[in-house]
This record gives sequence, C-alpha cells and structure tokens, in this order.
Amino acid sequence: MDAIVLLKEDHKTVEKLFKQFEKAGEDARDEKRKIVEQIIHELTTHAYIEEQIFYPMAREEVPETDDHVLESVEEHHVVVWMLSELRKLDPADERYDAKVTVLIENVRHHVEEEEQEWFPQVREAMGRKKLQEIGERMEKAKADAPSDPLELVSAQK
Ligand SMILES: [Fe+2]
Ligand SMILES: [Fe+2]
Repeated sequence: MDAIVLLKEDHKTVEKLFKQFEKAGEDARDEKRKIVEQIIHELTTHAYIEEQIFYPMAREEVPETDDHVLESVEEHHVVVWMLSELRKLDPADERYDAKVTVLIENVRHHVEEEEQEWFPQVREAMGRKKLQEIGERMEKAKADAPSDPLELVSAQK
C-alpha cells in the first residue's frame, strides 16, 4: 500500500474513535475506557511507524520538509505523554474528559498539518514506487510497535 494512503487510513480510524468518544454519554465510563484503550493502541502504533520509518525517510529524501518533521516529532512527544497519563487515569476522575478533549484537539491539529502542509510535498518528491515500498515496510512494522506509549523513540536523522 502507498505510504501516505496507509497513514491517512490510520488518521480516519482514529477520527472515528474520537467521534465515538465525543458521542458517549457523560456517565458511560466503561464505554469511554474501551474507546480510549483503542485510541492509545492506534495512536501509539501510528506514531511508531511514522517515527521509525516515514519521518526519517521524509527528512532524507525531501530535506525541505525538515522543519515540519521536527515540529511533528515534538507534537507526537506531547501526545505520547498524554496517552501514558490516560492509561493510568480512571474515567471517573474529574480530569479524564478534559484530558481526552485536549488530546483530540492536539491530534486533529497535528493530522491537519501532516495532510495539508507536508505530506503533499513528500508525495510529489518521492513518487509512487518509493511510497509503495515505504508503505509495505510500515505495514509490517506495525506488529513491532510497543504497547507502552512512553517506549516510543523519536525519529532520528
Ligand atoms: Fe504524526
Ligand atoms: Fe499521522
């Protein structure tokens, strides 16, 4: 699969979970906990394949994306920290909904920047064959993603 198509599919999956969370009733604690568990899994896996494969490739092949990539790495860093906190937080805690809401805002902003501001640059510069190759590597790498968000290692040059 094309790398950017794969990443956008992941973004859609996560957005669906966000909507489910937003629709869940105030007191639907078990439901919220289950949705948040899925969000943690999806986002950790997604960030893993971006940090391990896509971001370093973008920096290497499309140097003009450098600043965008570096900003994205820092945004992941914040998200990963929030995920690690949510993992331990009880949905009954008064900070739970607020934390999820801020997480969702952060991720939506991040996804918009990836999709609008710099993924198109990568697509143009890399071409279809290279993107297919990276997509296949990322699909396989998903199985190696850590379950603990704090075990994610930021992309290196
Ligand atoms: Fe990202
Ligand atoms: Fe992404």
